[in-house]
Amino acid sequence: MSDTVDSVIVAIDGPAGTGKSSTSKAVAAALGLRYLDTGAQYRAITWWMLHNGVDIADPAAIATVAEKPSVVSGTDPAAPTISVDGVDATGPIRTPEVSAAVSAVSAVPEVRTRITALQRSIATGAPTGIVVEGRDIGTTVLPDADVKIFLTASAEARAARRAGETAGADLAATKAALIKRDAADSGRKTSPLAKADDAIEVDTTELTLAQVIERVVALVEERRAAK
Ligand code: DC
Repeated sequence: MSDTVDSVIVAIDGPAGTGKSSTSKAVAAALGLRYLDTGAQYRAITWWMLHNGVDIADPAAIATVAEKPSVVSGTDPAAPTISVDGVDATGPIRTPEVSAAVSAVSAVPEVRTRITALQRSIATGAPTGIVVEGRDIGTTVLPDADVKIFLTASAEARAARRAGETAGADLAATKAALIKRDAADSGRKTSPLAKADDAIEVDTTELTLAQVIERVVALVEERRAAK
């Protein structure tokens, strides 16, 4: 196989609950690409901050220790992992406490600079290519990505999907938390959640996951064939 000819970088951005993770993993697996969940990196650093008693209401305190934790991502789409200082954090980063704190931590420029550099080095080091999912991948992290997708869905559909992932979750509370997090992520100064001008927008509200995956795989294959 010719590595350089086939290598493709796919950026998939969008708010929470649009099917980004499921789509990105499935597309990567179908096309033999690596997979990077950048939200997991921000969650991991947030988890470390909470564990180490850093006041997440204080951006200066976050900035001071932003370089400290070592964050390592496993990029196999079949079993993505994340560790912090050698400890597997794959489970703990999904708690409501981390979800509530992650927007504040990820808004701090020192955190973003550091994690962005890590993301670029992982993406450029993937031999056949990679699917990178996040909020600012097409705009800031990998502006030269071969394919840029921006997933959207109604707030109702997104909340229903998120609530469905968590046993006993309250739909109204899930929707409120999600809207709050989107507003924070879209409103922050440094690389906010945004659609790149050259991104293809896919509204997933009325689509099944299989339909979204099929659409994105087709777009990537088209681009790969044209390379
Ligand atoms: O995708 P997720 O819900 O696990 O992301 C968690 C948070 O991380 C999200 O609320 C905003 C932040 N994030 C970011 O700022 N930039 C990214 N590229 C990915 C996530």
